[in-house]
Amino acid sequence: MTKALSTLLLPVFAAAVAGSALAQAPIKVGEFASLTGKEAAFGQSSHKGTLLAIEELNATGGVLGRQFELLTEDNQSKQGESATIVKKLISRDQVVALLGEVASGRSLEAAPIAQAGKIPMISPSSTNKRVTEMGSYIFRVCFIDPFQGTVMAKFARNSLHLQKVALLTSVSSAYSVDLAKYFKETFAAMGGTITIEQKYSEGDKDFKAQLTAVKAAGVDGIFVPGYYTEAALISKQARELELNCPLFGGDGWEAPQLIEIGGKAVEGTYYSTHYSPESSSPGVQGFVKKFRARYADETPDAMAALGYDSVMVLADAIKRAGTTDHIKLRAAIAATRNFDGVTGRTTIDAHRNATKSAVVITVKDGEFKFVETITP
Ligand code: PHE
Repeated sequence: MTKALSTLLLPVFAAAVAGSALAQAPIKVGEFASLTGKEAAFGQSSHKGTLLAIEELNATGGVLGRQFELLTEDNQSKQGESATIVKKLISRDQVVALLGEVASGRSLEAAPIAQAGKIPMISPSSTNKRVTEMGSYIFRVCFIDPFQGTVMAKFARNSLHLQKVALLTSVSSAYSVDLAKYFKETFAAMGGTITIEQKYSEGDKDFKAQLTAVKAAGVDGIFVPGYYTEAALISKQARELELNCPLFGGDGWEAPQLIEIGGKAVEGTYYSTHYSPESSSPGVQGFVKKFRARYADETPDAMAALGYDSVMVLADAIKRAGTTDHIKLRAAIAATRNFDGVTGRTTIDAHRNATKSAVVITVKDGEFKFVETITP
Protein backbone atom coordinates (compact mmCIF):
# COMPACT_ATOMS: atom_id res chain seq x y z
CA MET A 1 0.00 0.00 0.00
CA THR A 2 1.32 3.43 -0.87
CA LYS A 3 1.76 5.92 1.88
CA ALA A 4 -0.93 8.17 0.44
CA LEU A 5 -3.48 5.37 0.29
CA SER A 6 -2.76 4.09 3.79
CA THR A 7 -3.07 7.63 5.15
CA LEU A 8 -6.37 7.93 3.39
CA LEU A 9 -7.72 4.61 4.69
CA LEU A 10 -6.37 4.88 8.18
CA PRO A 11 -9.16 6.99 9.70
CA VAL A 12 -11.83 4.66 8.23
CA PHE A 13 -9.99 1.59 9.48
CA ALA A 14 -9.36 3.15 12.90
CA ALA A 15 -13.02 4.06 13.25
CA ALA A 16 -14.08 0.49 12.43
CA VAL A 17 -11.62 -0.95 14.96
CA ALA A 18 -12.72 1.52 17.59
CA GLY A 19 -16.36 0.57 17.02
CA SER A 20 -15.81 -3.14 17.42
CA ALA A 21 -13.31 -2.61 20.22
CA LEU A 22 -15.98 -0.78 22.13
CA ALA A 23 -18.53 -3.53 21.66
CA GLN A 24 -15.95 -6.13 22.63
CA ALA A 25 -14.21 -4.14 25.37
CA PRO A 26 -13.79 -6.22 28.49
CA ILE A 27 -15.93 -5.52 31.53
CA LYS A 28 -13.51 -4.15 34.09
CA VAL A 29 -14.13 -5.26 37.64
CA GLY A 30 -11.97 -3.94 40.50
CA GLU A 31 -11.11 -6.21 43.40
CA PHE A 32 -9.43 -4.91 46.55
CA ALA A 33 -8.19 -7.41 49.09
CA SER A 34 -5.67 -8.12 51.85
CA LEU A 35 -3.37 -10.33 49.78
CA THR A 36 -0.46 -9.71 52.15
CA GLY A 37 -0.07 -8.55 55.75
CA LYS A 38 -1.95 -9.42 58.89
CA GLU A 39 -5.17 -10.79 57.30
CA ALA A 40 -3.53 -12.20 54.16
CA ALA A 41 -5.46 -15.45 54.63
CA PHE A 42 -8.73 -13.57 54.08
CA GLY A 43 -7.65 -11.77 50.91
CA GLN A 44 -5.96 -14.73 49.33
CA SER A 45 -8.87 -17.02 49.90
CA SER A 46 -11.44 -14.54 48.70
CA HIS A 47 -9.31 -13.76 45.64
CA LYS A 48 -9.07 -17.42 44.68
CA GLY A 49 -12.85 -17.75 44.69
CA THR A 50 -13.27 -14.48 42.81
CA LEU A 51 -10.74 -15.44 40.15
CA LEU A 52 -12.24 -18.90 39.69
CA ALA A 53 -15.64 -17.35 38.98
CA ILE A 54 -14.19 -14.82 36.52
CA GLU A 55 -12.29 -17.55 34.67
CA GLU A 56 -15.39 -19.71 34.52
CA LEU A 57 -17.51 -16.89 33.12
CA ASN A 58 -14.89 -15.96 30.55
CA ALA A 59 -14.54 -19.58 29.42
CA THR A 60 -18.24 -19.65 28.62
CA GLY A 61 -18.19 -16.40 26.65
CA GLY A 62 -18.50 -13.82 29.43
CA VAL A 63 -21.69 -11.74 29.62
CA LEU A 64 -23.30 -9.49 27.00
CA GLY A 65 -20.72 -10.97 24.61
CA ARG A 66 -17.92 -9.38 26.61
CA GLN A 67 -15.13 -10.90 28.66
CA PHE A 68 -14.40 -9.88 32.23
CA GLU A 69 -11.14 -8.21 33.17
CA LEU A 70 -10.37 -8.52 36.87
CA LEU A 71 -8.13 -5.80 38.28
CA THR A 72 -6.88 -6.96 41.67
CA GLU A 73 -5.17 -4.66 44.15
CA ASP A 74 -3.53 -5.57 47.46
CA ASN A 75 -4.19 -3.29 50.45
CA GLN A 76 -1.59 -5.19 52.52
CA SER A 77 -4.17 -5.41 55.39
CA LYS A 78 -3.25 -1.77 56.11
CA GLN A 79 -5.57 0.97 57.20
CA GLY A 80 -5.91 3.73 54.61
CA GLU A 81 -4.82 1.62 51.64
CA SER A 82 -8.29 0.49 50.55
CA ALA A 83 -9.47 4.07 50.16
CA THR A 84 -6.48 4.93 47.95
CA ILE A 85 -6.87 1.79 45.88
CA VAL A 86 -10.58 2.22 45.32
CA LYS A 87 -10.08 5.83 44.20
CA LYS A 88 -7.53 4.60 41.67
CA LEU A 89 -9.74 1.75 40.45
CA ILE A 90 -12.59 4.17 39.87
CA SER A 91 -10.82 7.15 38.32
CA ARG A 92 -7.84 5.62 36.54
CA ASP A 93 -9.13 2.18 35.60
CA GLN A 94 -12.81 3.09 35.29
CA VAL A 95 -14.07 -0.19 36.68
CA VAL A 96 -17.82 -0.82 36.40
CA ALA A 97 -18.04 -2.48 39.82
CA LEU A 98 -15.96 -3.13 42.92
CA LEU A 99 -15.59 -6.41 44.80
CA GLY A 100 -14.37 -6.21 48.39
CA GLU A 101 -13.45 -6.21 51.14
CA VAL A 102 -13.51 -9.21 53.41
CA ALA A 103 -12.84 -7.33 56.67
CA SER A 104 -15.55 -4.89 57.67
CA GLY A 105 -13.14 -2.13 58.70
CA ARG A 106 -11.71 -1.96 55.20
CA SER A 107 -15.14 -2.13 53.54
CA LEU A 108 -16.23 0.78 55.74
CA GLU A 109 -13.22 2.70 54.51
CA ALA A 110 -13.85 2.08 50.82
CA ALA A 111 -17.65 2.36 50.78
CA PRO A 112 -17.93 6.19 50.93
CA ILE A 113 -15.61 6.43 47.91
CA ALA A 114 -17.58 3.88 45.89
CA GLN A 115 -20.77 5.69 46.87
CA ALA A 116 -19.41 9.12 45.87
CA GLY A 117 -18.24 7.68 42.53
CA LYS A 118 -21.59 5.88 42.07
CA ILE A 119 -19.81 2.59 41.37
CA PRO A 120 -21.59 -0.48 42.76
CA MET A 121 -19.53 -2.23 45.42
CA ILE A 122 -20.28 -5.78 46.56
CA SER A 123 -18.58 -7.01 49.70
CA PRO A 124 -18.35 -10.78 49.65
CA SER A 125 -18.07 -11.20 53.39
CA SER A 126 -18.04 -8.03 55.50
CA THR A 127 -20.66 -8.68 58.15
CA ASN A 128 -20.69 -5.38 60.07
CA LYS A 129 -24.15 -3.85 59.84
CA ARG A 130 -22.88 -0.35 58.99
CA VAL A 131 -21.12 -1.41 55.77
CA THR A 132 -24.18 -1.29 53.52
CA GLU A 133 -25.61 1.68 55.43
CA MET A 134 -22.85 3.73 53.80
CA GLY A 135 -25.02 4.21 50.73
CA SER A 136 -27.27 2.97 47.96
CA TYR A 137 -24.38 1.60 45.86
CA ILE A 138 -23.04 -0.67 48.63
CA PHE A 139 -24.13 -4.33 48.74
CA ARG A 140 -23.07 -7.59 50.32
CA VAL A 141 -23.79 -11.26 49.63
CA CYS A 142 -23.43 -12.51 53.23
CA PHE A 143 -25.39 -12.35 56.47
CA ILE A 144 -24.83 -9.53 58.97
CA ASP A 145 -23.49 -9.47 62.54
CA PRO A 146 -26.80 -8.90 64.36
CA PHE A 147 -27.63 -12.40 63.07
CA GLN A 148 -24.16 -13.84 63.66
CA GLY A 149 -24.15 -12.55 67.26
CA THR A 150 -27.51 -14.22 67.84
CA VAL A 151 -26.28 -17.46 66.30
CA MET A 152 -23.34 -17.71 68.69
CA ALA A 153 -25.40 -16.63 71.71
CA LYS A 154 -27.95 -19.35 70.97
CA PHE A 155 -25.19 -21.87 70.39
CA ALA A 156 -23.52 -20.91 73.70
CA ARG A 157 -26.80 -21.21 75.62
CA ASN A 158 -28.53 -24.12 73.92
CA SER A 159 -25.68 -26.31 72.71
CA LEU A 160 -22.81 -25.56 75.10
CA HIS A 161 -25.16 -24.80 78.02
CA LEU A 162 -23.04 -21.87 79.16
CA GLN A 163 -24.22 -19.61 81.96
CA LYS A 164 -21.31 -17.27 82.70
CA VAL A 165 -19.29 -15.98 79.76
CA ALA A 166 -16.29 -13.67 79.41
CA LEU A 167 -16.11 -11.31 76.43
CA LEU A 168 -12.76 -10.40 74.85
CA THR A 169 -13.26 -7.61 72.32
CA SER A 170 -10.80 -6.07 69.87
CA VAL A 171 -11.52 -2.37 70.34
CA SER A 172 -9.69 -1.37 67.15
CA SER A 173 -11.97 -3.49 64.96
CA ALA A 174 -15.50 -2.35 64.04
CA TYR A 175 -16.34 -5.98 63.34
CA SER A 176 -15.31 -7.12 66.81
CA VAL A 177 -16.96 -4.28 68.75
CA ASP A 178 -20.35 -4.73 67.11
CA LEU A 179 -20.32 -8.52 67.08
CA ALA A 180 -19.58 -8.43 70.83
CA LYS A 181 -22.54 -6.11 71.34
CA TYR A 182 -25.01 -8.33 69.43
CA PHE A 183 -23.77 -11.47 71.17
CA LYS A 184 -24.14 -9.83 74.55
CA GLU A 185 -27.70 -8.65 73.89
CA THR A 186 -28.98 -12.09 72.90
CA PHE A 187 -26.97 -14.02 75.46
CA ALA A 188 -28.35 -11.82 78.26
CA ALA A 189 -31.89 -12.00 76.85
CA MET A 190 -31.59 -15.80 76.97
CA GLY A 191 -30.72 -15.72 80.67
CA GLY A 192 -26.93 -15.89 80.40
CA THR A 193 -24.53 -13.56 82.21
CA ILE A 194 -21.56 -11.69 80.76
CA THR A 195 -19.42 -11.99 83.87
CA ILE A 196 -16.45 -9.97 82.65
CA GLU A 197 -15.50 -7.89 79.60
CA GLN A 198 -11.89 -7.40 78.54
CA LYS A 199 -10.34 -5.47 75.65
CA TYR A 200 -7.42 -5.83 73.27
CA SER A 201 -6.29 -4.26 69.99
CA GLU A 202 -5.46 -5.69 66.56
CA GLY A 203 -1.84 -6.84 66.50
CA ASP A 204 -1.57 -7.44 70.26
CA LYS A 205 0.46 -10.50 71.17
CA ASP A 206 0.19 -10.75 74.96
CA PHE A 207 -3.22 -11.40 76.48
CA LYS A 208 -2.08 -12.68 79.87
CA ALA A 209 -3.38 -9.71 81.87
CA GLN A 210 -6.89 -9.99 80.37
CA LEU A 211 -6.94 -13.77 80.75
CA THR A 212 -5.76 -13.61 84.35
CA ALA A 213 -8.70 -11.31 85.11
CA VAL A 214 -11.03 -13.72 83.29
CA LYS A 215 -9.70 -16.62 85.33
CA ALA A 216 -10.25 -14.74 88.57
CA ALA A 217 -13.83 -13.90 87.53
CA GLY A 218 -14.71 -17.58 87.07
CA VAL A 219 -16.53 -18.23 83.81
CA ASP A 220 -17.63 -21.30 81.89
CA GLY A 221 -16.90 -19.93 78.41
CA ILE A 222 -14.97 -17.18 76.60
CA PHE A 223 -16.34 -15.41 73.51
CA VAL A 224 -13.67 -13.82 71.30
CA PRO A 225 -15.26 -11.96 68.37
CA GLY A 226 -11.96 -11.21 66.61
CA TYR A 227 -9.67 -12.34 63.80
CA TYR A 228 -7.74 -15.60 63.58
CA THR A 229 -4.24 -14.50 64.69
CA GLU A 230 -5.36 -13.01 67.99
CA ALA A 231 -7.95 -15.77 68.49
CA ALA A 232 -5.21 -18.40 68.18
CA LEU A 233 -2.88 -16.57 70.57
CA ILE A 234 -5.67 -16.00 73.08
CA SER A 235 -6.55 -19.71 72.99
CA LYS A 236 -2.92 -20.66 73.56
CA GLN A 237 -2.41 -18.28 76.45
CA ALA A 238 -5.74 -19.27 78.03
CA ARG A 239 -4.66 -22.91 78.07
CA GLU A 240 -1.26 -21.93 79.51
CA LEU A 241 -3.13 -20.28 82.37
CA GLU A 242 -5.18 -23.45 82.76
CA LEU A 243 -8.36 -21.77 81.65
CA ASN A 244 -9.91 -24.87 80.15
CA CYS A 245 -13.47 -23.72 79.39
CA PRO A 246 -14.71 -23.53 75.76
CA LEU A 247 -13.50 -20.62 73.63
CA PHE A 248 -15.58 -19.55 70.68
CA GLY A 249 -15.85 -16.78 68.10
CA GLY A 250 -17.30 -15.68 64.76
CA ASP A 251 -16.31 -15.93 61.11
CA GLY A 252 -13.11 -13.94 61.73
CA TRP A 253 -11.61 -17.13 63.17
CA GLU A 254 -11.72 -18.88 59.81
CA ALA A 255 -8.20 -19.43 58.45
CA PRO A 256 -5.74 -22.34 58.40
CA GLN A 257 -3.54 -20.13 60.60
CA LEU A 258 -5.99 -20.56 63.49
CA ILE A 259 -4.83 -24.18 63.74
CA GLU A 260 -1.23 -23.50 62.65
CA ILE A 261 -0.72 -20.88 65.37
CA GLY A 262 -3.11 -22.30 67.96
CA GLY A 263 -2.13 -25.97 67.68
CA LYS A 264 -3.60 -28.10 70.46
CA ALA A 265 -4.99 -25.02 72.24
CA VAL A 266 -7.70 -24.53 69.59
CA GLU A 267 -8.95 -28.12 69.80
CA GLY A 268 -12.59 -28.03 70.87
CA THR A 269 -13.05 -24.33 70.07
CA TYR A 270 -16.04 -23.22 67.97
CA TYR A 271 -16.83 -20.48 65.50
CA SER A 272 -19.68 -19.48 63.21
CA THR A 273 -19.22 -18.98 59.49
CA HIS A 274 -21.02 -18.86 56.14
CA TYR A 275 -20.65 -22.33 54.67
CA SER A 276 -19.03 -25.70 55.20
CA PRO A 277 -17.20 -27.58 52.42
CA GLU A 278 -18.57 -30.74 54.08
CA SER A 279 -22.12 -29.90 53.01
CA SER A 280 -23.58 -32.58 50.75
CA SER A 281 -25.47 -30.05 48.60
CA PRO A 282 -24.62 -30.47 44.91
CA GLY A 283 -23.82 -26.74 44.63
CA VAL A 284 -21.23 -26.94 47.38
CA GLN A 285 -19.73 -30.22 46.19
CA GLY A 286 -19.47 -28.98 42.58
CA PHE A 287 -17.70 -25.85 43.79
CA VAL A 288 -15.31 -27.77 46.07
CA LYS A 289 -14.38 -30.04 43.17
CA LYS A 290 -13.71 -27.14 40.75
CA PHE A 291 -11.76 -25.22 43.37
CA ARG A 292 -9.58 -28.17 44.30
CA ALA A 293 -8.83 -28.85 40.64
CA ARG A 294 -7.83 -25.22 40.08
CA TYR A 295 -5.79 -24.71 43.28
CA ALA A 296 -3.66 -27.78 43.97
CA ASP A 297 -6.18 -29.69 46.07
CA GLU A 298 -6.89 -26.83 48.43
CA THR A 299 -10.32 -27.01 50.08
CA PRO A 300 -12.21 -23.71 49.73
CA ASP A 301 -13.27 -21.93 52.92
CA ALA A 302 -16.12 -19.46 53.44
CA MET A 303 -14.25 -16.49 51.98
CA ALA A 304 -13.47 -18.42 48.81
CA ALA A 305 -17.12 -19.42 48.46
CA LEU A 306 -18.37 -15.88 49.09
CA GLY A 307 -15.76 -14.39 46.73
CA TYR A 308 -17.07 -16.74 44.04
CA ASP A 309 -20.69 -15.88 44.81
CA SER A 310 -20.00 -12.12 44.73
CA VAL A 311 -18.82 -12.40 41.11
CA MET A 312 -21.75 -14.58 40.08
CA VAL A 313 -24.27 -12.17 41.62
CA LEU A 314 -22.60 -9.29 39.79
CA ALA A 315 -22.54 -11.17 36.46
CA ASP A 316 -26.20 -12.08 36.84
CA ALA A 317 -27.06 -8.41 37.47
CA ILE A 318 -25.07 -7.23 34.44
CA LYS A 319 -26.92 -9.80 32.33
CA ARG A 320 -30.32 -8.64 33.60
CA ALA A 321 -29.38 -4.98 33.26
CA GLY A 322 -28.21 -5.61 29.69
CA THR A 323 -25.56 -2.95 30.27
CA THR A 324 -22.77 -1.95 32.63
CA ASP A 325 -24.20 1.56 33.05
CA HIS A 326 -23.77 2.28 36.77
CA ILE A 327 -27.35 3.40 37.48
CA LYS A 328 -28.95 0.43 35.72
CA LEU A 329 -26.40 -1.98 37.17
CA ARG A 330 -27.04 -0.70 40.69
CA ALA A 331 -30.77 -1.24 40.20
CA ALA A 332 -30.21 -4.76 38.85
CA ILE A 333 -28.02 -5.77 41.80
CA ALA A 334 -30.65 -4.38 44.17
CA ALA A 335 -33.28 -6.48 42.36
CA THR A 336 -31.40 -9.79 42.92
CA ARG A 337 -33.88 -12.42 44.09
CA ASN A 338 -33.24 -16.10 44.91
CA PHE A 339 -29.94 -16.26 43.09
CA ASP A 340 -28.57 -19.76 43.60
CA GLY A 341 -24.97 -19.70 44.76
CA VAL A 342 -22.50 -21.82 46.69
CA THR A 343 -23.39 -20.18 50.01
CA GLY A 344 -27.12 -20.54 49.48
CA ARG A 345 -29.75 -18.36 47.84
CA THR A 346 -28.96 -14.65 47.61
CA THR A 347 -31.85 -12.21 47.82
CA ILE A 348 -30.79 -8.60 48.22
CA ASP A 349 -33.13 -6.93 50.71
CA ALA A 350 -34.13 -3.27 51.08
CA HIS A 351 -30.96 -2.65 53.12
CA ARG A 352 -28.78 -4.23 50.38
CA ASN A 353 -27.95 -7.21 52.60
CA ALA A 354 -28.46 -10.94 52.09
CA THR A 355 -30.14 -13.28 54.55
CA LYS A 356 -28.44 -16.66 54.78
CA SER A 357 -27.91 -19.51 57.21
CA ALA A 358 -24.80 -19.77 59.35
CA VAL A 359 -22.85 -22.89 60.18
CA VAL A 360 -20.94 -23.69 63.37
CA ILE A 361 -17.52 -25.26 62.97
CA THR A 362 -15.28 -26.90 65.58
CA VAL A 363 -11.62 -27.89 65.53
CA LYS A 364 -11.15 -31.61 65.94
CA ASP A 365 -7.86 -33.50 65.53
CA GLY A 366 -6.30 -30.47 63.86
CA GLU A 367 -9.09 -30.06 61.33
CA PHE A 368 -12.19 -27.92 60.88
CA LYS A 369 -15.36 -29.97 61.33
CA PHE A 370 -18.98 -29.05 60.69
CA VAL A 371 -21.16 -29.01 63.82
CA GLU A 372 -24.56 -27.57 62.87
CA THR A 373 -26.46 -25.21 60.60
CA ILE A 374 -28.40 -22.33 62.12
CA THR A 375 -31.10 -20.73 60.00
CA PRO A 376 -32.27 -17.12 60.41
N1 PHE B 1 -17.01 -11.04 58.60
C1 PHE B 1 -15.67 -10.57 58.83
C2 PHE B 1 -15.71 -9.06 58.90
O1 PHE B 1 -16.68 -8.49 58.56
C3 PHE B 1 -14.72 -11.03 57.78
C4 PHE B 1 -14.72 -12.49 57.47
C5 PHE B 1 -15.63 -13.03 56.60
C6 PHE B 1 -13.83 -13.33 58.07
C7 PHE B 1 -15.67 -14.40 56.32
C8 PHE B 1 -13.84 -14.67 57.80
C9 PHE B 1 -14.78 -15.24 56.94
O2 PHE B 1 -14.78 -8.40 59.25
